[in-house]
Amino acid sequence: MKCKKTQVIIVGSGPAGLLLSQLLYNEGISSIIVDRQSRERIEARVRAGVLEWGSVQALEEATIGDRMHLEGLPHDGFELAFDGDLHRIDVAGLTGKKVMVYGQTELTADLISQRLRQGCEIVFSAEDVQPIDVSTTSPKLRYTKDGESYEIEGDYITGCDGFHGVCRHTIPSNILKTYEKVYPFGWLGILVEKPPVSDELIYANHQRGFALCSMRSKTRSRYYIQCPLTDKVEDWSDKRFWNELSLRVGSDVSTNLETGDSFEKSIAPLRSFVAEPMRYGNMFLAGDAAHIVPPTGAKGLNLAIADVRVLSRGLIEHYKKSNDDYLERYSDICLKRVWKVERFSWFMSTMLHQFPEFSSFEKRIQRAEFDHIKGSEIASRSIAENYVGLPLEM
Ligand code: FAD
Ligand code: DHB
Repeated sequence: MKCKKTQVIIVGSGPAGLLLSQLLYNEGISSIIVDRQSRERIEARVRAGVLEWGSVQALEEATIGDRMHLEGLPHDGFELAFDGDLHRIDVAGLTGKKVMVYGQTELTADLISQRLRQGCEIVFSAEDVQPIDVSTTSPKLRYTKDGESYEIEGDYITGCDGFHGVCRHTIPSNILKTYEKVYPFGWLGILVEKPPVSDELIYANHQRGFALCSMRSKTRSRYYIQCPLTDKVEDWSDKRFWNELSLRVGSDVSTNLETGDSFEKSIAPLRSFVAEPMRYGNMFLAGDAAHIVPPTGAKGLNLAIADVRVLSRGLIEHYKKSNDDYLERYSDICLKRVWKVERFSWFMSTMLHQFPEFSSFEKRIQRAEFDHIKGSEIASRSIAENYVGLPLEM
């Protein structure tokens, strides 16, 4: 077995693990990142598209914002649509802040190349990744790569390994409490090399189901429609997708829709999930490893960024000031925010999707929710405040 040492072991090379490594490096703290996927697979994953303003600032401060500012699209607002009736949420007017449309794929690629350039060790394609002794003051990570066994010893181990990772499962079941809601539908998403149908995102509830018009650039669009969980990507030809999207967004929007051949198509299930606490001994969970939100409202990546901002500050205070007060409060600080964001994502998902179990009463309540937001600046401001990102308790 080959042995290595570092200060912070990071499991997972997604946005949470990579940004944590960057923030620690900026303060002279060492880390090794281990991921079970190849670099190619990680960089090919198409996921989030919208960054909160606090996330944008955090990426700038972490010295990773240059390409985001060059290529990202700052947005002042977005549209809500209900059976073709539109209401714009003026995010900038109501909060004084914007959001940034910049793909998670791009952000991940930026972080990987910068971390490697700065000499960080990122182990890709690791097998049998196993955290051990996590409740002690010298936690370790074992893995195999190309038939060789390795052990990394560190002061801390951070589980940034997503919802399907291993770290959360090392917490004993009498300590870990989980909360979960699984939604009875998924999102079918496509990418297409065509200009977006509108300058701003459109979230639409239609009797046929939810639809979202998003983008990655001025020439590349990202569209989603709600679909049954039993559907397969093969069931959806591009033609069928465009027909369905057009019906759901209504004719005012669809007249401007530029269709074409998709070059990515995937189905994602929707889930709300929280694991408490987010710390066990010297192991910390961050990002999707600790919580999942349904994508309506674009919060998952932003929550991951918020976690690692808190975690990096705790670790920096530990190493630089020998002060553990903030680190001790990591789980409590994060969970306060996590639950507020869970609430918003659940609220947006509940208002905007067709639920098979909803009666006509609940459908009328959904419509009343939309009408209330449309008629009330205070209700619109509440949506805008959540969308642009709640303040981070630092
Ligand atoms: P991940 O990105 O999942 O990274 C975890 C890493 O850990 C992966 O690289 C994985 O390979 C690795 N790993 C897993 N298991 C192991 C193991 N055993 N050993 C070693 N490594 C392991 N969020 C937003 O904020 N805005 C949006 O607009 C948005 N849209 C979305 C749209 C879709 C369709 C989906 C699916 C998600 C969306 N999200 C959005 C959510 C967002 O993508 C996630 O919240 C985000 O990826 C979380 O980052 P993470 O680093 O915590 O986890
Ligand atoms: C995207 C995803 C979301 O979940 C969302 O709310 C907005 C945009 C996207 O992938 O572009």
